[in-house]
Amino acid sequence: MSFARLPLPELTLPGAATTISRLNTSEQSLLTGIAQAREWVAAARRVAVLTGAGISAESGVPTFRGAGGLWRHYRPEELATQQAFMRDPKLVWEWYDWRRQRIALARPNPGHYALAALERRLAEGFTLVTQNVDGLHERAGNQRIWRLHGDIWLVRCTGCGREERNFEAPLLELPPRCRDCGALLRPGVVWFGEPLPADALEAGFTAARAAEVCLVLGTSSVVYPAALIPRCALEAGARIIEINLDPTDLSAAAHLSLRGRTGELLPPIVQGAA
Ligand code: OAD
Repeated sequence: MSFARLPLPELTLPGAATTISRLNTSEQSLLTGIAQAREWVAAARRVAVLTGAGISAESGVPTFRGAGGLWRHYRPEELATQQAFMRDPKLVWEWYDWRRQRIALARPNPGHYALAALERRLAEGFTLVTQNVDGLHERAGNQRIWRLHGDIWLVRCTGCGREERNFEAPLLELPPRCRDCGALLRPGVVWFGEPLPADALEAGFTAARAAEVCLVLGTSSVVYPAALIPRCALEAGARIIEINLDPTDLSAAAHLSLRGRTGELLPPIVQGAA
């Protein structure tokens, strides 16, 4: 398996969304849902947001599940675990190097920018918790971001523990080594079987318990414990608004489950948030 030889895709820059795609939901009920969501978001002082790979799909970053998802072609056990890294660090790093190159070509899309606008409006009342490691929320202007699954631009030494942000794409040395102690560096992401950062998790649950509205955006809602955050918000009385191309495990429980692209549906929902 070699990622180095995989072609880098041609990316199209996201433009302003001018049309709402007509997907599974009828156009009328989608528009009604957007209007309802906009009303709830406009009235809320505390909003908790959970994002997943789907919000970056329109930026050209592949998702893990769903159509074209990475886990349809690759096995997580071979690429995203400590055991895989110990077995073949070069292979694992080739995979992350390939993803870093794709992400380096990506730009935030209107969905990311809508969340940045919402943070500007709500300030402390806004909490963004993401499963994404791509850094696109940060590049769109969100400032307080809790990263549940780490950061693909962070590298950590397996010897001395030194961490640094590294934006080299492609990496010059594969697998990369620590310039201080010479040990292998690893990606600063959370692998399967590893604990999530406690502060991010705690921030997510605290925001979920306090939220009047919880937005669940572009996530398949199957990876735990992230998927528990909207459930916690639901139990605490928040209105749950999901946006996803496909139905998920959460859809039936959500107050509004809107079928469509976050880059198209979010901007009209947070309209006036800037
Ligand atoms: P998934 O790939 O599991 O799910 C992405 C979801 O986004 C799917 O339900 C798609 O239908 C939906 N989707 C795709 N494009 C969309 C769009 N433009 N607008 C709205 N929805 C869209 O991604 P996550 O839920 O983030 O973990 O996956 C969770 C974790 O599983 C990831 O963080 C990663 C993965 O294995 C680790 O690597 C630890």
